[in-house]
Amino acid sequence: MNHLLSIKELSQQQLIELLTLAKKIKANPSAYRQALDGKSVVMLFEKPSLRTRVSFDIGINKLGGHCLYLDQQNGALGKREPVSDFAANISCWADAIVARTFEHSTIEQLAEYGSVPVINALSDMYHPCQGLADFLTLSEQFDDVSKVKLAYVGDGNNVTHSLMYGAALLGATMTVVCPQGHFPDGKVVLEAQEIAAAHGGQLILTSDIEQLEGHDAIYTDTWISMGDNASLDEIKAKFDPYQVNKALMGKAGAQYFMHCLPAYRGVEVTAEVVDGEGSLILQQAENRMHAQNAVLVTLLS
Ligand code: CP
Ligand code: NVA
Repeated sequence: MNHLLSIKELSQQQLIELLTLAKKIKANPSAYRQALDGKSVVMLFEKPSLRTRVSFDIGINKLGGHCLYLDQQNGALGKREPVSDFAANISCWADAIVARTFEHSTIEQLAEYGSVPVINALSDMYHPCQGLADFLTLSEQFDDVSKVKLAYVGDGNNVTHSLMYGAALLGATMTVVCPQGHFPDGKVVLEAQEIAAAHGGQLILTSDIEQLEGHDAIYTDTWISMGDNASLDEIKAKFDPYQVNKALMGKAGAQYFMHCLPAYRGVEVTAEVVDGEGSLILQQAENRMHAQNAVLVTLLS
């Protein structure tokens, strides 16, 4: 493992090893106090962030490393100088690059032209750190994560893609329920279905919310992702039947609710579900740090 650009580049064994290491770091953080001793990580964000920025910064500190935040929120990388020069220069000083970009190709360029590991902190295509934290969370709730039935409802997006690859690699069952025209990327779906089949899992796509019945956890995300200029009124009209509310949770019979956050209460999910019993949102948020620390330790020590 040289980078973490997407979960699809991991083998099943690498994914399981990352989850196992994340649990070890979470249970015994003092054993990893020096894991990144003398290492510096540059973080650059073209888009806003709370969880990712804070969990990387504090997580790197807990591992004994140093983190430098480069604020790119007001402009895309590659404007002042080519991404290739940017990556090559940062590699002269830093031991790793964490990047949140609009286009996934920017992250690929950082990995191509830099000479240090690159970690995807969200692109238009993937959010692998979120996916790792989410499967860590599920594996804390269920003894055998391969038996979990996970349903994702709403807009097929970067988070959906990472969840699909993760579920597929782990051999779990995942159902993705989206309004017509808002399904995940077709190529990602086909790849994830192939990976699922190879690992005894199943990935089902549908627009029919009745298919949610019999799932352990219901996951949703914002209906409009960062960088998407869709009109909220139009999206609300189309997505209304896909809102996660008490009735939908009851229909699914799901014990748990999941969301990567930020959540928009009253839009994709009601307050009583996101703040209610069975909501795993803060466990997911905490696990961002432990999962990312496992990635950093694997890549850097
Ligand atoms: N879930 C997540 O990535 O949150 P932020 O956008 O706040 O980093
Ligand atoms: N799909 C969302 C995730 C935010 C963490 C976005 O890209 O804006």
